[in-house]
Amino acid sequence: MLTLGIETSCDETSVALVNKRKILAQATFSSVRFYRPYGGIIPEIASRKQFKFISLIFRKALKDSGCRSSDIKAVAVTQGPGLIGSLMVGVQFAQGISLALKIPLIGIDHLKAHLFATFLNRKEKIFLPFIGLVASGGHTNIYLVYDFDKMELLGETLDDACGEALDKVGRFYGLDYPAAVYIDKLFSLKFVDRGMFKIKKRQDFNFSFSGIKTAAVYKKTQEQRQPSFQKIVLSSFQYAIVENLILLLQKATETFKIKNVVCGGGVLANRFLRRRLQQEAAKREWRVLIPPRELCSDNAAGVAGLGEYLEKKRGFNSGEIEPYSVSKRD
Ligand code: KG4
Ligand code: ZN
Repeated sequence: MLTLGIETSCDETSVALVNKRKILAQATFSSVRFYRPYGGIIPEIASRKQFKFISLIFRKALKDSGCRSSDIKAVAVTQGPGLIGSLMVGVQFAQGISLALKIPLIGIDHLKAHLFATFLNRKEKIFLPFIGLVASGGHTNIYLVYDFDKMELLGETLDDACGEALDKVGRFYGLDYPAAVYIDKLFSLKFVDRGMFKIKKRQDFNFSFSGIKTAAVYKKTQEQRQPSFQKIVLSSFQYAIVENLILLLQKATETFKIKNVVCGGGVLANRFLRRRLQQEAAKREWRVLIPPRELCSDNAAGVAGLGEYLEKKRGFNSGEIEPYSVSKRD
């Protein structure tokens, strides 16, 4: 079933066409470069860019797929969580398409779409249940996933998301936005001081990164004159975050006796995190799935794929859907 996916939750305008979990085309415009002078995303600019580019990106994706608009059987759109102004652009656009083509409209949860992206362009069956980790600029969530419409949130960040913490600390140390990408590039295990940042062990499945974020800020005043000081602090900071994500995954897989692990979200593009997940998979006999790097950041293919999956599973009425800016709990 040819499904159109639309994702406009933050600073990417993305449109994709998916059929039977195969991506026929995806076009994405990122407005990230407009935020460099500010060191962080400006929601007002993001929503204006979404509005400016959505039609263009839709036409490009359709042309690249070689399909006609009349071939599209359903439209799936990110409903939230995300920036409300940006979400509204995508939801309105999708509603227009649904009305014009008389096809079902499916509202998709942004975080579930990150996990679903993992199963695209793969022949193997979707394996369930699994422990799901979404690590992005806005969220650090760990789930027990029975199915994509039956998920239990086990834990989440109590303060900053892991991508956000990396972006903020990196910026403080003079890197461009989004700084996490540049920390990934400069990271090396030879710079890591394992004792520099300690994340307190918790009884539950929640994350907290603000303590080490503050510690990283104080380090700057203490150790500035040391050579390679920036690389040592940032590599050690990234190391602490990655190891904390791995630790929570270990805890969840052991507690629930599930060896399937699926990860998604922008932070999963990180080379060290990807390597550590593969190492843990080999050591603990996990079956780990991570999307290819280009499907880690916000993308419409995951939205279309999940829309197709849910439509097939339970059917949806075409109707009104509303964007939401904060997570809805299942
Ligand atoms: O999923 P995403 O594209 O958007 C949100 O839903 O937030 O995630 C964006 C986050 C940003 O914090 C960005 O700096 C981070 O993912 N990110 C990375 C890498 N590439 C993007 N973090 C670590 N290593 C990377 N290579
Ligand atoms: Zn995202």
